[in-house]
Amino acid sequence: MYIILLGAPGAGKGTLAKMIEGKFDIPHLSTGDILRDNVNRKTSVGNQAKDYMDNGKLVPDDIMIQMVKGRVLEEDCKTGFVLDGFPRTIKQAEALRLIFNELDIKIDAIFNLEVSPKTIIERLSGRRTCRNCGAIYHIKNIPPKDEGKCDKCGDRLYQRDDDKKDVVKERLIVYKAQTKKIISYYEKQSSFCEIDANRKADEMFMEVCKSLGRKSRNG
Ligand code: AP5
Repeated sequence: MYIILLGAPGAGKGTLAKMIEGKFDIPHLSTGDILRDNVNRKTSVGNQAKDYMDNGKLVPDDIMIQMVKGRVLEEDCKTGFVLDGFPRTIKQAEALRLIFNELDIKIDAIFNLEVSPKTIIERLSGRRTCRNCGAIYHIKNIPPKDEGKCDKCGDRLYQRDDDKKDVVKERLIVYKAQTKKIISYYEKQSSFCEIDANRKADEMFMEVCKSLGRKSRNG
């Protein structure tokens, strides 16, 4: 099953992707996570991406396209994946279309998570992430059992650098100016589906599962 998640920063793409990964046994490909891992390991991609990420800007298309192309060719992507954070520009969407054509992949579903600006700020300011396994929490909405500690692996939770107020502001500007337009690129496709993401994660996930059930019945 091949799924793409679209939506503003903080809409809940990562949270939903992890639920889909767990239920459908397909890998969660988060371009943000892959970039952060590269930054931490100080790879060439990480060193090139760091300044853009720290300032809430998009990493150049060519770097992103190469990165995603390499990742989807890996063995664990053979039967599907849930793509979170890519594409973010028309150029990336076009490149993805070519990659899918080359690999003879048909997209099963593109979910666009719609969320209010107020919810975005509230979600990003309270987000905490596990350093080790990447599990995502929220200090009020989805708190860990022990404060500051991951339920899954016990490692320490941290607040992402780009969740600081000024960087969030810039990420939202960039989303409106550059990324929102890919909704019109996809919205005419039969696999496109709008999701109200202002709700609890479980409710959103139930709607996604129902929609995937319908799509697989309709072939
Ligand atoms: P990336 O890591 O992709 O960040 P983002 O798209 O801004 O999205 P987020 O990870 O902030 O939010 P999310 O929608 O996944 O929400 P989450 O589930 O965590 O990208 C970071 C940077 O990398 C970019 O700024 C850019 O520089 C670069 N980059 C990445 N991809 C790129 C690309 N393709 N091209 C160029 N540059 C690229 O949820 C947020 C919070 O809300 C959490 O605390 C969660 O617990 C909580 N929450 C989630 N859902 C719910 C719910 N339903 N109810 C209550 N709380 C909820």
